[in-house]
Amino acid sequence: MRGFDPGSRTFVRAHGTTVFDASGRGFFDATSSIWTILHGHARPEIIAALAEQAATLDHSTLLGATHPAAEELADRLCGLAAMDYAFFSSDGASAVEVAAKMALRYWAVNGQPQRTRFVRLDASYHGDTAAAMSFSDIAVFKDHYASLTFETFAYDASRELLERDDIAAVIVEPLIQAAAGMRYVPHSAYTALESMVPLLIVDEIATGFGRTGTMFAHEQLAVRPDLLCVGKGLSGGVVALSATLASQRIYDAFLADYHEMRQLFHGHSFAGNPIACAAALASLDIFATDATLAAAQRLSLAISRNAELLRTHRGVREIRVVGTMCGIEIRSQLIDASNAQSAGWRIADALYERGHFTRPIGDVIQLVPPLVTRDDEIDRFFTDVLAVLEDVCI
Ligand SMILES: Cc1ncc(COP(=O)(O)O)c(C=O)c1O
Repeated sequence: MRGFDPGSRTFVRAHGTTVFDASGRGFFDATSSIWTILHGHARPEIIAALAEQAATLDHSTLLGATHPAAEELADRLCGLAAMDYAFFSSDGASAVEVAAKMALRYWAVNGQPQRTRFVRLDASYHGDTAAAMSFSDIAVFKDHYASLTFETFAYDASRELLERDDIAAVIVEPLIQAAAGMRYVPHSAYTALESMVPLLIVDEIATGFGRTGTMFAHEQLAVRPDLLCVGKGLSGGVVALSATLASQRIYDAFLADYHEMRQLFHGHSFAGNPIACAAALASLDIFATDATLAAAQRLSLAISRNAELLRTHRGVREIRVVGTMCGIEIRSQLIDASNAQSAGWRIADALYERGHFTRPIGDVIQLVPPLVTRDDEIDRFFTDVLAVLEDVCI
């Protein structure tokens, strides 16, 4: 992309809520490095767990084998999420692909092979691989790849769609759609899914692990997932690890004697890598030692308090906050974009000058900070957003 200056965003070190460039200048990591880092960068407990695991069992496949870190993590995740089994992958998109395959096979072996279609929310985003793209509804991510994707239906909360006999599953992001610019999904949109749905896939890749104030966002709804995708913050956000958590009935669909070939033929080389699992176990321990969920709720209050003050600014169209996830939608027509790529980038660039690293999603400036962020860091971010808006508003 012409106009991108790699010199201005090359980070060589990170600590806590700060990423540092080669000159030693620190920047507030306002997006948690795209919604991954939970407990701050370079947490000693996670580093120690990574190092110890690397020295003990660095890698060992989960294809036809297992290891203690994956076993323990599967148990703990299932306990936390009230699910029954965990299938590990690396990136979030892979966890979504796996959920799709599990849903298809579930119906095939249960005598309803015609259930092959999927339903998704408007403005959805589930990743950049083929099925995940098909489940997504954001033009820039999928429009050029029609030959790689398949048709999915937009969920309109109507029973008619959910009652069709060719629907395999409905996939949803709970409460908030991060990639759509921190878009709210009203609670009422999920009501029909409490009972009607053939299978429900809940994608908690962005929202999981405390970001919305509860461990998983769907705890704030009355839905019960059959499949639950997690990633990003699963390892504390420091190494690639994702999981598709499944309920007993999904697992049972794949359980048969060898010659029946019902097992799930899907596996990534680094799925459930022991080092990644060890990081995830250390991250889950930190939830207890740091009281991370209480910290997330306090952080949410600090964000909401600041958001209230900015809400009436003429350069702001809307501010959306769910827990610790915040999107500030600007009125781009009122912004002097000067030499920047867009109004959003003009503001992100100006914030960078002031020591904050964020990136716009269209006209939305995002703030999704690490859960250890202090109130004064939030205050400073908003003070600087206000100062920047004052500067660039025409
Ligand atoms: C809700 C959601 N699902 C899936 C993904 C894809 O995850 P990954 O980028 O790890 O493949 C993302 C990434 O932003 C996401 O926000």
